[in-house]
Amino acid sequence: MPQFPNTRLRRLRQHDWVRRLVRETTLTPDDLIWTLVVSDSADPTEPVPSMPGIERLSVKAAAAAAKEAERLGIPAIAIFPHVDPGKKDETGSEGLNPDGLVASAVKAMKDAAPGVGIVCDVALDPFTTHGHDGVLKNGQVLNDETIERLQEQSVIYAQAGCDVIAPSDMMDGRIGKIRAALEEAGQADTLILSYAAKYASAFYGPYRDAIGSAKALSGDKKTYQMDPGNSQEALREVAMDIEEGADMLMVKPGLPYLDIVARVKMEFGMPTYAFQVSGEYAMIEAASSNGWIDGERVMMESLMAFKRAGADGVLTYFAPRAARVLNG
Ligand code: PBG
Repeated sequence: MPQFPNTRLRRLRQHDWVRRLVRETTLTPDDLIWTLVVSDSADPTEPVPSMPGIERLSVKAAAAAAKEAERLGIPAIAIFPHVDPGKKDETGSEGLNPDGLVASAVKAMKDAAPGVGIVCDVALDPFTTHGHDGVLKNGQVLNDETIERLQEQSVIYAQAGCDVIAPSDMMDGRIGKIRAALEEAGQADTLILSYAAKYASAFYGPYRDAIGSAKALSGDKKTYQMDPGNSQEALREVAMDIEEGADMLMVKPGLPYLDIVARVKMEFGMPTYAFQVSGEYAMIEAASSNGWIDGERVMMESLMAFKRAGADGVLTYFAPRAARVLNG
């Protein structure tokens, strides 16, 4: 090992110019996927109480956000629906409505900014009265019956113009089945970004508030989302999804699971994304608004950490703010 005083690593840290010169990781707006909540409410925007600074947007406001993404150089937006509770039922039928909120939002956003990629979360929880991601029978989420509905949902979203289908449900075998359904529907070019390693996490709390499923959710999601103690199993999940036709992979949540991001990227070398989820956002915002941390620096440092771990990009509620910082 090189020894002091021949080696003084601090020599490389003396000035901004040399720190920039030796920096191993870079962050640009190209690394950001903007996570955005759309709503069918009559109000153009509605604040999400547990996510200060985040609002649910009407379809019209979402179209304006797509234009904003274009201006900021953000390549893609991932949308998450908040529907009127009156539209929810046991099986999440509203998720299969070809004229529903997601399809309308996709069309409006693609019209406003055709060059911005639109990612659609595929799952039933925004549309079910019980808040689970699938069809329930005797308290169990049914795997294969749920997949049939996800296939239909995926085709509807793709036909509305969605560029990337992102199944977040964690049913076994859904990537292959969705891929087949897209092929059959003439949507062979639609990308699939699999929520490949998605953990049963308490960090999703504020999101359930944002899409209005928090009060509804009965029990937890531990029978389909992964156990936070597992890492080998994440590689098996990812391997299956690649085999079944996923184009891109996601690890979720983000910062507490950077080891998984690093392992997945190293093992498979596929386009790999991390989701900095609602609870991570809320923690940073809460500490920042109390003056306990410098919110902007923590935001930028956390995004850089994803890149350093090997992620090709980050799904984040901070996307527009981070892009503004990066664009100067
Ligand atoms: C549900 C879904 C969740 C998130 C994205 N899609 C929550 C869950 O699994 O309960 C979480 C997003 C976030 O916390 O920001 N299919």
